[in-house]
Amino acid sequence: MKVLLLGAPGAGKGTQAQFITREFGIPQISTGDMLRAAIKAGTPLGLEAKKIMDAGGLVRDDIIIGMVKERIAQPDCANGFLFDGFPRTLAQAEAMVAAGVDLDAVVEIDVPDAAIVERMSGRRVHLPSGRTYHVKYNPPKVSGKDDETGEDLVQRDDDKEETVKKRLAVYHEQTEVLVDFYSKLTGEHAPRYIKVDGTQPVETVKENVITALQR
Ligand code: AP5
Ligand code: ZN
Repeated sequence: MKVLLLGAPGAGKGTQAQFITREFGIPQISTGDMLRAAIKAGTPLGLEAKKIMDAGGLVRDDIIIGMVKERIAQPDCANGFLFDGFPRTLAQAEAMVAAGVDLDAVVEIDVPDAAIVERMSGRRVHLPSGRTYHVKYNPPKVSGKDDETGEDLVQRDDDKEETVKKRLAVYHEQTEVLVDFYSKLTGEHAPRYIKVDGTQPVETVKENVITALQR
């Protein structure tokens, strides 16, 4: 199964991705996590991407498309995958169509901007795995520690309020067009379009997403 998670920064893509990958046994492909790994490793891509990400902008399409094409050619993607945070421009979406990647479903997680800033300020992440928590809405079992490894949780560098506002603006300018792009795709290869209310509690969103995908 090939699924795409679409939604604003902080809508809950990473949170729901954990449940979907577990339920359907497909790997998560988060371009944000891949870029953060490159930053941590200090690669040339990481150095370049860090400046752009800290400013709330988008990394160049050709770099991202190349990175994803390489990733989906890996053996663990043979039975499908979950895109999280990709595609996020029309050019990226069209590159996947051109490459013959037929998605089975697009899941849009809908959250208004007003709720996003609070979510981001309380977010804590386990960088090696990408596991995501919230101090109030989705707390770890032990404060400040990852549930599975016990390692430290950190705040993301791009979760400062000013950067979050910039990321939201970029979402509305460059990514939101994909709602139209995917919901209007027709024909034999068109994905199912599933829209869920992302303002509901994590568990409710999870049930709605999983049930819709099982249908
Ligand atoms: P990326 O890592 O993809 O960030 P994003 O899209 O901005 O999304 P987030 O990860 O911030 O949010 P999320 O939807 O995953 O929410 P989460 O589940 O964590 O990208 C980062 C940067 O990398 C980009 O800005 C760009 O520079 C670059 N980049 C990445 N991909 C790119 C691409 N394809 N092209 C170009 N550049 C690219 O949840 C947020 C918080 O809310 C958490 O604390 C969580 O616990 C909490 N929460 C989740 N669900 C709920 C709920 N239902 N109720 C209450 N709280 C909730
Ligand atoms: Zn995420």
